[in-house]
Amino acid sequence: MNPARSSALRLLLLVSLGVCLLGTLKPTERIRFSDLPRAVNVTEDVPSNISSPVQSSESLGTHPAPQAPVQNHIYKLELGLGDISQEAFRLDQELLARGWDAKRYPWRMIQQGASRKAILYGTAWAQRMIWDHQHPRRDCRDVKILIFRSGPSGIGSMLHQLGQALALAMELDRVLVVPVKDTLLQYYDKRFCPGAHSWQCWLQEIGLCADVHGDVMKVDKPYTETTRPVPTRFHEMLAQSPIKKDFWLYWWRAQSITYLLRFQERTRHAIDKLRSETLVSCGQHANSSGVLATGSIATFVRHGFKKQERVVEHDLGDYIREMQRLAAGRQGLRILHREVAESNASFRYPAESFAARNIFVSTDDPAVIKAARKLCRQGWNVTYVEKKRANYDPWMHLRPGKATRTEVLSAFMNLELALESDAWVCTLSSNWCRLIDELRMTAAAKASQPFLNLEKVPCKAGKPQCYLGW
Ligand SMILES: *[C@@H]1O[C@H](CO)[C@@H](O)[C@H](O)[C@H]1NC(C)=O
Ligand SMILES: *[C@@H]1O[C@H](CO)[C@@H](O)[C@H](O)[C@H]1NC(C)=O
Ligand SMILES: *[C@@H]1O[C@H](CO)[C@@H](O)[C@H](O)[C@H]1NC(C)=O
Ligand SMILES: *[C@@H]1O[C@H](CO)[C@@H](O)[C@H](O)[C@H]1NC(C)=O
Ligand SMILES: *[C@@H]1O[C@H](CO)[C@@H](O)[C@H](O)[C@H]1NC(C)=O
Repeated sequence: MNPARSSALRLLLLVSLGVCLLGTLKPTERIRFSDLPRAVNVTEDVPSNISSPVQSSESLGTHPAPQAPVQNHIYKLELGLGDISQEAFRLDQELLARGWDAKRYPWRMIQQGASRKAILYGTAWAQRMIWDHQHPRRDCRDVKILIFRSGPSGIGSMLHQLGQALALAMELDRVLVVPVKDTLLQYYDKRFCPGAHSWQCWLQEIGLCADVHGDVMKVDKPYTETTRPVPTRFHEMLAQSPIKKDFWLYWWRAQSITYLLRFQERTRHAIDKLRSETLVSCGQHANSSGVLATGSIATFVRHGFKKQERVVEHDLGDYIREMQRLAAGRQGLRILHREVAESNASFRYPAESFAARNIFVSTDDPAVIKAARKLCRQGWNVTYVEKKRANYDPWMHLRPGKATRTEVLSAFMNLELALESDAWVCTLSSNWCRLIDELRMTAAAKASQPFLNLEKVPCKAGKPQCYLGW
């Protein structure tokens, strides 16, 4: 894009932003240095090969053989491969072949080299662009900053907002920073991570230049509720991709979440420990050193109260019916409901993939676990996390401290277990199911595996993406 057009666009964006944020946003406001983390050594040299999300820097040499088309609800006609002559395609194939950098993306399945099947188009390229953007190779004194404060909400929803702030930051050529003390973020535990009162408690630093000087712009939640840009620098690539235009935003959510949700070491160890203490299969303590059995089906049964999400509650039976179909190897399972699909495509997979009837159940409702355990007598191997459950949204009632620690770690652990599965039965109007969907396409490299969305939200004309709950 030519610079004049690009600056005009920015101006437009700034103006519209100003309009929707009157009162909350003061673009030139300086913030107190003492509010911000000092942990990052900003003078540190960034090695030139740090931008690659893949494990090693040696060349693959030959072009990988073209893959089977990816079956995915956000692909045109729900099925696509993408233009194999594109750089983005090539980078994805490299990522598939070599695997993710397990230090940067420390998911257990990545650490243990679990098999990779298909990846969301443009993932490798996007992860590199985001990383490079957040780790500028120049003096941080010359770098412009965007500080984002989250508003209180469920953890999935907050991470999605942070992803929107990242989009804005990239659009404005600013590095996204979260304040070290975010009074609105209730998810921290002083004893777990002294001095880190925000996402730093759980996640790796989201970027360099956290030690803020100079040009700082402050944004908070109202912005991310009203504006949902996909950074312009991705548009050209997306236009050549198999992603449906109305789903570019969903693509961006997958990329931003994949970048942001990277556990730091303390969190990684704590999740592993919790898993070794609480993972159960049909009443027996499960071997927690590996990943879930191949061909596991994950489900998240959402019964908690949630006004802002149009979640229709389903009985466990509705979920079981779908899982039975997968276990039986049924081939007619639609990739997307007829009402919103561009085709009649259905999932193809080896018929015996899910025949072992391994399922992983997570839920906020203790009655669901009790009911699911009964399936153990009918030949299902039901795995779940043993914990106290209250059938309400604990997020909404949390105060910082030990209970928060358990809640956050357990949420992350359940998410990780879902990603270790090879098929899903979930309701995409829930933030948590979307989080699973987004990450299974990228980090878990299972973009083509069956994801069965349980509900049929009737969509208004011109809003094919409404089944996502927005
Ligand atoms: C920052 O990095 C420089 C150069 O590597 C080093 O000399 C200095 O001790 C580091 N400072 C901190 C606070 O780690
Ligand atoms: C980056 O390059 C250095 C020096 O060539 C090498 O030691 C290191 O292993 C490389 N890192 C990655 C992630 O490729
Ligand atoms: C647990 O699984 C790991 C590999 O996933 C295996 O090496 C180990 O022997 C298993 N432990 C038990 C007690 O079965
Ligand atoms: C049940 O599932 C767990 C977790 O996937 C797995 O470790 C275990 O081997 C399974 N048990 C049987 C009998 O297949
Ligand atoms: C799907 O199949 C139905 C029934 O065979 C047909 O009427 C419809 O046109 C098909 N839709 C698409 C998008 O191909």
